[in-house]
Formats: sequence, C-alpha cells, structure tokens
Amino acid sequence: MTSAASTARTARSSELFARARTVTPGGVNSPVRAFDAVGGTPRFIRSARGAWLTDVDGNDYVDLICSWGPMLLGHAHPEVQRAVTEAVSRGTSYGTPTVPEVELASEIVARTPVERVRFTSSGTEATMSAIRLARGFTGRDVVVKFAGCYHGHVDSLLAAAGSGLATFGNPNAGPSTPGVPSSSTDLTLVLPYNDTAAVAAAFAEHGDRIACLVTEAAAGNMGVVPPDPGFNRFLAETCARHGALFVSDEVMTGFRASRQGQWGLDGAVEGWAPDLMTFGKVMGGGFPAAAFGGRADVMAHLSPEGSVYQAGTLSGNPVATTAGLATLRLATDEVYAHLTAAGETIKEAAADALTAAGVPHAVQSTGTMFSVFFTEGPVRDFAGASGQDVAAYAAFFHAMLDAGVHLPPSAYEGWFLSAAHDDRAVQTVLDALPAAARAAASQGGRP
Ligand SMILES: Cc1ncc(COP(=O)(O)O)c(C=O)c1O
Repeated sequence: MTSAASTARTARSSELFARARTVTPGGVNSPVRAFDAVGGTPRFIRSARGAWLTDVDGNDYVDLICSWGPMLLGHAHPEVQRAVTEAVSRGTSYGTPTVPEVELASEIVARTPVERVRFTSSGTEATMSAIRLARGFTGRDVVVKFAGCYHGHVDSLLAAAGSGLATFGNPNAGPSTPGVPSSSTDLTLVLPYNDTAAVAAAFAEHGDRIACLVTEAAAGNMGVVPPDPGFNRFLAETCARHGALFVSDEVMTGFRASRQGQWGLDGAVEGWAPDLMTFGKVMGGGFPAAAFGGRADVMAHLSPEGSVYQAGTLSGNPVATTAGLATLRLATDEVYAHLTAAGETIKEAAADALTAAGVPHAVQSTGTMFSVFFTEGPVRDFAGASGQDVAAYAAFFHAMLDAGVHLPPSAYEGWFLSAAHDDRAVQTVLDALPAAARAAASQGGRP
C-alpha cells in the first residue's frame, strides 16, 4: 500500500513502530492508530500546532483527526496552553475539590439540559457510570443500544459496537470481543439505528425490564450517520412512556456538532431533553476528562448523595478541567461558523473529486461533523456503513497522506476539523483530493 517514496519519508516512524511493537501490543495504545485498516506505518507525531501535525521524520500533515475530536480549537492554542501551564505550576492533582471543576460543570450546565454533572477521566467511564446509575435508579437491568454505536469499551456495551452484527430484538446479541462474558451482553438489546419500528417492538416486548436506552446523539463511530428527523425525540418519548431512562451519548458530538452538541440541533429545537447525557473529547481540551450528567433527581442517586457508587482518583483533575474550561470558553459562535464553512468547502471538493473519478461515495454530516462514505448513500445504519469499499478508502487515505493530509486511518470515522483549519490548511486538502480520488478508483473493489 505504501510507495517507495513514502517508505523513505517514514524511516523514523518505522523504526519507532518496530520498537513499540516489542513493548506494546500492536505497537499502539488504542487499536485504530495501528493503520491495520489501511496498511502501512502509523506516523509518530513529534509536535502539533494549529491545524498541522509534524512527525518524527519532519513531515507536516494537515490534521483531519484532531485527536479523534477533542482539538476543536486546533493544537497548542496559546490561551489554552497558558491556562494549562498556570494550572500545572500550582500542582497537578490534589484529591480534594477545586475551583475549575465547579466552573467547568457550570459551563456544561449552561450549554446543555443537564442539571448536575459528575466528572470522569474517559468517555468509557462516563457511559459505564451512566448505565450503572440508570440501573440503580430504575431497579431494572436491560440496556438497549444500536448496532454501530460505540460507547467506549464498557463490557455491556461492546455488543455490535461498530463492527459486530446488527441483531434485532435478540437479548443474546453476544459480545463483539473475547473477554466480555456473555452474562454482560445478555442484558443488552441491540437494534438497528434509525429504526423506530425496531425500538417500538423491543419496548413492547421488554419495556418493563429496560433500565435505559443509550444512543450516540448522532452516530459518529460508523462514519457520521445523523439521526432521522424526530428519531431522538421518538427515543426520548418511548423511554418516558416505559419508565426507562434516555441516555444520550455526546462524547463525540458534544460541543462539536454545534455549540450545544447534537442536542442543540434537535432537542433544544424540539423541546425535549435526555434524562442522562455523557460528554468527553472537546470538554477535556486534549486532556483526559469526561463527564456524565442529567436530571437532578436521577443524579441525586449517585454516591455520596445517594447509594449508586461511582468514583475516580483523577476525576475532575484540575489541569484537565482547566484545559476543558478554557476550550469551552473559547468555543464561540464564530468557531462553529468557521467549522461549518471549512467543512462545506472540503465536503463539496471531496464529493466533486470522487464523482469525477467515478468512485461511489456519500458525504454525510450533522452540524459541523461530517464523514465521507465509500459507498452509495444515504447511509442510515450500520448495515449501510458496512457496505463500504475499504480497499478504495485505503488507497485514498495513503494518497492523501503522501500529499500531506492525515485522515483517520479507517473508513468508519468522521473527518475532524478545528478552528485553526485556515485557508492554507483547507487548500492543502483540496489540492490533494483529485489524485487521491483517482487512486481510490484504481484500487476500488479489490479485496
Ligand atoms: C460516542 C462515544 N462514546 C464514548 C466513547 C469513549 O470515550 P473514551 O475513548 O474517552 O473512553 C467514545 C470514544 O470515541 C465515543 O465516540
């Protein structure tokens, strides 16, 4: 997949990757970083500034990963850096309450419908804790999720988490990884995304056993698949009718799809709110911080106010919450307007290039988030996303990389932009697209 020229340009990354493999499984600390889906050597990044990554061989790339979402303002934003540096100079963790925790929680409460917030260190912990709270609050055990939605590597949520089989109405959907006991996923009902009939049928049959329905507020982990109009409201209403909680996972969409996340695009307009929400990525400003929150009466069941236990040594860490607070305060309407404009330019150019090269594709978005599917659209669920021509994407990915644009190394991911993606960065992407589309056309359909 990699050309001789690109191999020569990646000598240091290749060396480091070989070394990393001797001390870390697969050489990476999160699987998709390994390039397994596209082939080749992951770039080891030395530094990043604004919209650009620089690797250890000195190559520069326009970054369309943005740390898988968090870097809304771009890398090394001077004001975030200043706030973080000051925070670090005061110490890095105390294990007692701090000011930035209260301020970040207040900022989240101000932007979203949640009334109370509890911080965690990762999105995985946030969804895991929200599920536990929903079960503790309702006294029920069953959880409903959608095929293709990823909620972190929580045992009970690793059924059809972006790569398994969509299974309608089958409580024994089964884990999509070894190591998860089937007793964990036996209580997980997996349904096709955007399928109101499947939701209605599942609640009709199991409604009195369902603790909660958890969904990505807009699917972003099978590529960007927006909820059909009214779909999230239908979920909220169905849960309410059956005494289950509606848990909206905004770890990816939160403070990115819009100023108020995906909820700002539907719930805020239509006048409904989830019972619980989860957040991460942008709200941590590039540090390990995440949160769950929601109705005050539900959150009151959390320890120490209530009896549902949940805790974390570094939860609400003062440096991480300072970074998140600085990021959210700088995430103004202008930032979202810029993301929208830059996104429109890139989406249009990608569609034009792929059309000109004859590559089947679908460009999909929700708010400022978008992705390019290498299949005919519209993609409405995981079955649709699974039909992608991954060989075509791999060729496209490497041609873009060789031209200095670092896309996510998987066809199942969004393309992330930041406020720092200026004209030069966008133009670099536009210049790279036609040849990459032709590369995709020449590889398309190959296994
Ligand atoms: C929607 C969603 N929920 C939860 C998670 C898990 O977050 P983390 O990787 O911080 O554990 C992710 C991560 O990509 C996500 O996209």
